[in-house]
Amino acid sequence: MDICRSKSAIRALVAQWRSQSVPVVLAPTMGFLHNGHLSLMRRARLRAGETGKVVASIFVNPTQFGPNEDLDSYPRDEARDLELLRLEGVDAVFIPEVSEIYDPEAQTIVETTELARMLIGKLRPGHFRGVATIVTKLFNIIRPDAAVFGEKDYQQLAVIRRMVQDLDMEIEIIGAPIQREADGLAMSSRNVRLSPADRARAPVLARALDQAEELAPSGITASRLRSHVRATLEAEPRAQVQSVDIRDAATLAPISGPLTRPAVLLLAVKFGTVFLIDNRVVHPAKERT
Ligand code: PAJ
Repeated sequence: MDICRSKSAIRALVAQWRSQSVPVVLAPTMGFLHNGHLSLMRRARLRAGETGKVVASIFVNPTQFGPNEDLDSYPRDEARDLELLRLEGVDAVFIPEVSEIYDPEAQTIVETTELARMLIGKLRPGHFRGVATIVTKLFNIIRPDAAVFGEKDYQQLAVIRRMVQDLDMEIEIIGAPIQREADGLAMSSRNVRLSPADRARAPVLARALDQAEELAPSGITASRLRSHVRATLEAEPRAQVQSVDIRDAATLAPISGPLTRPAVLLLAVKFGTVFLIDNRVVHPAKERT
């Protein structure tokens, strides 16, 4: 596995692969890898094939963190991450320092408008601008044929799909399903920061989504479904509910009345200082596959 810390090193490596006409598939991460991340590497391998190349990136991107967020306490373990990626059969890792990526004189950002201002964008102003900018930079540095992102960050995936379409980026975007712990908690690098008591209660997010999935085909309205989920979360005293939204699964536009199309429930809940998100696409009766 090649470990590249500079833009020039990863560019040279990918250029060499490109000259052999093999597909290159990127899976960007911020490190402290868990099974959710590793599932992206497997999805990337599936797309790349035996002869293609899988590239992972590890970069805790400062521009997507707000001033009062957890950039400084974001967990890191480079040696362990590299070992996990090696075991997964990843071909190369791009792991730059902040100074390699951001020129202090830079004046250009990438911003999706409406999509980035709603939902998590409202709770974390500027977050998706940081994400869109770093993902664009990674795409330009590595120039992959395809890139894999988790459905865990549903709005992030929507923002990236929109950006790629709007800016004519010739990169296939692949969504990968949410990986969960045995008790349902969606895997996240932040889970290790939950206190034991909060960790024990955090599966309430998945439980609320399971209930919503069961209720959705009953003809229930979007607003009642949302209230139901909120009530389940609020019944857990340790959970500080930040937002519960139900949106059109494809466009993230608000919906009301009985469900007629797939909808996505999006949850943001804090336990102590730890911000957790989860989501589930639910289907009305006739739509169910
Ligand atoms: P990070 O939070 O490290 O996540 C990297 C990728 O792993 C994202 O695509 C995310 O959706 C996916 N992922 C995380 N937990 C998952 C789970 N439980 N199941 C499936 N996929 C999961 O998301 C980011 O980093 C950054 O915003 C990034 C895209 C790297 C840009 O900085």
